[in-house]
Amino acid sequence: MATYDLVVIGTGPGGYVCAVRAAQLGMKVAVVEKNATLGGTCLNVGCMPSKALLHASEMFEEAGHSFAKMGVSVSSPKLDLPAMMNFKQQGIDGNVKGVEFLMKKNKIDVLKGTGKILGTGKVEISADGKSQVVETKNIVIATGSDIARLKGIEIDEKRIVSSTGALSLDKVPGKLLIVGAGVIGLELGSVWHRLGAEVVVVEFLDRILPGMDGEIAKQFQRILEKQGFAFKLGAKVTAVDTSGKTLKATIEPAAGGAAETLEADVVLVCIGRVPYTDGLGLKEAGVALDPRGRVQIDPHFATSLKGVYAIGDVVAGPMLAHKAEDEGVAVAEIIAGQAGHVNYDVIPGVVYTTPEVSSVGKTEEELKQAGIGYTVGKFPFTANGRSKVNQTTDGFVKILADAKTDRVLGVHIIGREAGEMIHEACVLMEFGGSAEDLARTCHAHPTRSEAVKEAALAVGKRAIHM
Ligand code: FAD
Ligand code: NAI
Repeated sequence: MATYDLVVIGTGPGGYVCAVRAAQLGMKVAVVEKNATLGGTCLNVGCMPSKALLHASEMFEEAGHSFAKMGVSVSSPKLDLPAMMNFKQQGIDGNVKGVEFLMKKNKIDVLKGTGKILGTGKVEISADGKSQVVETKNIVIATGSDIARLKGIEIDEKRIVSSTGALSLDKVPGKLLIVGAGVIGLELGSVWHRLGAEVVVVEFLDRILPGMDGEIAKQFQRILEKQGFAFKLGAKVTAVDTSGKTLKATIEPAAGGAAETLEADVVLVCIGRVPYTDGLGLKEAGVALDPRGRVQIDPHFATSLKGVYAIGDVVAGPMLAHKAEDEGVAVAEIIAGQAGHVNYDVIPGVVYTTPEVSSVGKTEEELKQAGIGYTVGKFPFTANGRSKVNQTTDGFVKILADAKTDRVLGVHIIGREAGEMIHEACVLMEFGGSAEDLARTCHAHPTRSEAVKEAALAVGKRAIHM
C-alpha cells in the first residue's frame, strides 16, 4: 500500500497549491482528482474560461465601438463564436498543462478517481469500478463547490444554464435572462451582451453585487444600464415554462405581489454556489459539517477528525480562488509545524467587467454598522490624466481610513484596470499603513494608479487634481 505524508483531495487552486507548498517543505504528497483534468472549477469552468471570454468579447466590442474614435478604421467586426470558444479552450488547456507540470516538477503523485476518507490516515480512491486505498499521515479536503439550484427550475445546460453552460453556448442568445446580479451574472452577462444578446437581470435584493460597497455598486449599475443591461431588482424567478420555442419565466416581486412573464432564449441561473462534499464519506468518517453544509474547521483548518484538514470553497469564507490558494499554503505550513496564517481582513475581490470593480477591506456600510469613525477620500477617473487621454474615465477610487489613526480600512475602485490597481492597497493594509503613507508614496505619471494616490490625498482633503 502506498504511503504519504499528505493526500490532498481535489486539485482546484486550493488543492494543487497546497500540494506544491507541502512538497516544497519536504513532504511526500499525492493529489486525488475525480475530474478528467486537473485545476478544479477555477481552471476548467470558472475563473479561466470566463476571463478568456471576457477578454475576447471586450476586444470584439472595442473593435466595433471604440477604434473609430481613435482613428483606427476597421470594417465592422464579425463574430466567429467557434473560434472564440477555441481561444477559450486553448487558455484552459494551457493552464491545466501548467498544473500537470507543477505536479511532476514537485514529484507529487496524481491519483485519478473519487477520494473517500475511510478514517484518520486512510483514503480510498475509486475509478472505473476499481479502487485502491492509500495511507497518509495527513489529509486535506479541497473539494470545492458546486452551483446552487433554484427549486423547481431544472438546469439542462442548453436553454436553462448554470455558469458552466453559459461558458459554452453554441450561439448568441437573442434574449438572455439572468437570475442573480452577483459576480457571475454580471461577468457572463457582459460577455453575451457584448456579443449581441439582450440582457435582463433579475435580482432578489434591491441592489446589485451584495457585499460590495453600496456607492460603488450604484455607480456600477448605472454604467451597466448605460451599456444596455436591464435590471429587475427586488424580484425573483419562480418558474420557467420550457414547453414553447422561447422560454417563459415567471417573475414575482420579492416582497410578494402580482407576477409577470418574461420571454427569453436562455436563462442563466447564478444565485451562488454550495460546498461540494458528495462521495467523500464524511458522515461515516466522523468529519463534522456546519449548518450550511460546509466542512467545519478550527482556526488551523483542522476538522473534527484527527489528521484531516479542509480549505477553499468547501469551508466558510469568500468563494475565491486566491482565498483557497492562500489557505492551501497556510495549511501545508501548519502541517509542517510552521505558523501558516491567512489574513481574512485583506482578501481582495474583483469583478472583471468593463469597467472592473475591485475591493479590499471594509465597506462604508460595514464601518457604519460596526460604529467605527472613518474619513472618506474619493477621486474620479475624469480627473486622472491617463484616463482622460485614453477616454476611459468611468468610475472612481474610494478610500476609507480610520478617523482617529488614519489607518486604511477599506479601498474600493470602479474603473478600467481596477483589478490590478487594488493590490497596492492590499500591501498597504497588510503593513497596517495609513492614507498618509499612500499619499506620500511616489506614483509614476501618467498612470491610472495616480487616482489611488489622489484618493489617499483626498482623505486629508488635499487632492491636487480636483
Ligand atoms: P475547486 O476549484 O472547486 O476544485 C475542487 C476540485 O475537487 C474539483 O476539481 C473536483 O473535481 C474535485 N473533487 C471534488 N470532490 C472530489 C472527490 N471526492 N475526489 C476527488 N476529487 C474531488 N474566483 C476568483 O477568485 N476569481 C475569478 O475570476 C473567479 N471566477 C469564477 C467564475 C466562475 C464561472 C465560477 C463558477 C467561479 C469563479 N471563481 C472565481 C471561484 C473559484 O473558481 C473558486 O473559488 C475556486 O475554484 C475554489 O477552489 P477550490 O480549490 O476550493 O475548489
Ligand atoms: P453571488 O453570491 O455573487 O451572487 C448571487 C446573487 O443572486 C446575489 O446577488 C443574490 O442576492 C441573488 N439571488 C439569490 N437567490 C436569488 C433568487 N432566487 N432570485 C434572484 N436572485 C437571487 O453568486 P454567483 O454570482 O453565483 O457566484 C458564485 C461564487 O463564485 C461567488 O461566491 C463568487 O465569489 C465566485 N465568483 C467569483 C468571481 C470573481 O472573483 N471575479 C467570478 C465569478 C464567480
